[in-house]
This record gives sequence, structure tokens and C-alpha cells, in this order.
Amino acid sequence: MPQEAVFSSGVDGMVDSKDLSRAGIGWVGRHLLDLEEKPPEAIQAILRTASCFKEDRDLEWSQILRGKVVCNLFFEDSTRTRTSFSLAARKLGANVVEFTSRGSSMSKGESFVDTARNLEALGADAVVVRHHTPGTPHLLTKHLRASVINAGDGAHEHPTQGLLDILTILEVKKRVDGLKVCLVGDISHSRVARSNIWGLKKLGAQVVVCGPKTLIPPQISHLGVQISHDLDEVIPECDVINILRIQFERQRTGLFPSIREYRHLFCVDARRMALAKPDVLILAPGPINRGVEISPEVADGPNSRILDQVTNGLVVRMAGLYLTMGQPRPTEGSP
Ligand code: NCD
Repeated sequence: MPQEAVFSSGVDGMVDSKDLSRAGIGWVGRHLLDLEEKPPEAIQAILRTASCFKEDRDLEWSQILRGKVVCNLFFEDSTRTRTSFSLAARKLGANVVEFTSRGSSMSKGESFVDTARNLEALGADAVVVRHHTPGTPHLLTKHLRASVINAGDGAHEHPTQGLLDILTILEVKKRVDGLKVCLVGDISHSRVARSNIWGLKKLGAQVVVCGPKTLIPPQISHLGVQISHDLDEVIPECDVINILRIQFERQRTGLFPSIREYRHLFCVDARRMALAKPDVLILAPGPINRGVEISPEVADGPNSRILDQVTNGLVVRMAGLYLTMGQPRPTEGSP
């Protein structure tokens, strides 16, 4: 089912989903830094490739990155993203190095870039980086020859999360074009929101961002999204609701009066689900805070595909590694 969804009506109907090399036609670049920079054809190519990896051909896939080294360079906590990048690299036959700043020579004053260059000197062909500073993956591309994949840079972008959200939408709704997708919550501090907006808009969806005034930057309308502060008003029109966590770790205090008030106005619960289309698709990137942004009965209910998103994360990350590392490496000194 998923393959057909992406290939027949979802992305572009022309490519045989079983042909991995053709699925990637349209991909550009040897890095995956953000969805803002990727043309729609590249987004379609990575979704098709991810869909291919859903096929149970593990033996074949396990040769693709044989002998390559993928380094996970995570400076922020992670459950899903880190685990799925590791598993994705292993499934493609690569060796994986798990770097954590704690216990490394960074405590002796070594810089971030020097650390990454040393890991490259040890053979890293790709670096998957998560960092609290926006632009860190872009900085690495200036200093490394390895492919760089952004696993979340501050509040900027989280491209593989955006892609796995879109893949899940395609599987359930069979299309993205013309759908109305609402991103609810802390838009200001959410890298997931930004990657969703770029990806969804490029594939023709209508995007609404909904949350308290203090958690939505007014300039976001320049990205072509509708802004709402009233969830009850927008919910009936939505085909998809993607529920974002309040990013307390990135906020200064006082952006909304209390969790109770937030829950009252923006928690997606059974009462609000009664206002929605019966087949509305409920997504959340996780981690979810049950009873804050989403009630347990909605998180575990029939409209929720939250765990399918996690499963799709694996194939999206396989596709990201395959497409970025499949390109020839530049020689020393080239840009
Ligand atoms: C997101 C992240 O880290 O940006 N989680 C994830 O990668 N699945 C969202 C979040 O932390 O709320």
C-alpha cells in the first residue's frame, strides 16, 4: 500500500517504486540540510526512495553502504531521531559511530569543528548532526568533505522529520496537493514546523499554523501560511492536524499563562475531535506530553498515526543516507 500511495497519486505517478535507482531521480546535492533549499523534485525523489525501502529486501539493502562510516554527532537529547539514523545506517550496511560530547575531548577545549574534522579523519563519510545552534550543519559543510545531514538545528529545521510526516500523510491520504494541514502549538520554537511548512507548501498543501499569539511569529505568514489563534474555528476544515510540543527548553518564561490555559485552548482532545472531519489524520513528531498538547484518547485513537510516523522515520533516514552518500565525494580543496 505505501509504495502505491507515493507513486500513483501522491508524488508523481511515473516511476516504478521497485526501482531504487530511478526513485532517486530529481535528487540534488550530497547534503540534507533543510527543505527550504530543496526543490520539489528532490523532495519527491527522497519520498519515493523512502517508499522503496519499505520493501522487504533487507539482504539487498544491506550492501548499499558497505564499508562506509556514518557518524551520529548529537548535542541534544533524542530518542527517535538518533535511534532511527543508527538503524538506517546499519540496515544499509554502514558502520556507525555514536559520538556524545560528554566524555569527549570537547571538555578539554576542543572546538566543535575540530571535533568533527577529527571524526572525518577517522573515516566518517557522513555526519548526522543535531545541535542547539541554528546553522550548525551548514557550518560543517564548509569544513568537511563528508556528507552532512541535519537531524535538527535549534529552532531552524528538522528536514527528515518534515519528510517522514509527509510520507505518513501520503500513505494515509494518497496525496498532499490540495490538503489542508494544521500545525498546532509552539510554532516559534519548532524546527519541525519550519520543515513541514517548506515541504508541504512545495508539494501543494495549504498550511495553517495555530497557537497562542506569543508562540507564532507574525513573519511566518511570508512563507504562505494562514495564521489562526482559534483551534475550534480551524479544526473542521483540516485534513491533517500535526500537534507540536511546547518547546519549554527553548522558551523564555511567560509566553502563556499556564499549562492549564494552554490545554483549555489548544489541547487536541475528544471534544475537539468531535468538531473535526471523521477521517482527520492526527500526527505528532514526539515526544508527546499526554494531557498537554494531546489527550491520551486522541494519541492512541483511530485517527492517530503517531507510531507509523516513527516507523516511517527509519525509511526516510535510509533514503537520506543513500541519496547523500551515493553522490561522488569531492576531491580535497573543492567546494
Ligand atoms: C522533535 C525535535 O527534536 O525537534 N522531535 C523529534 O525529532 N522527533 C520535536 C520535539 O522535540 O518536540
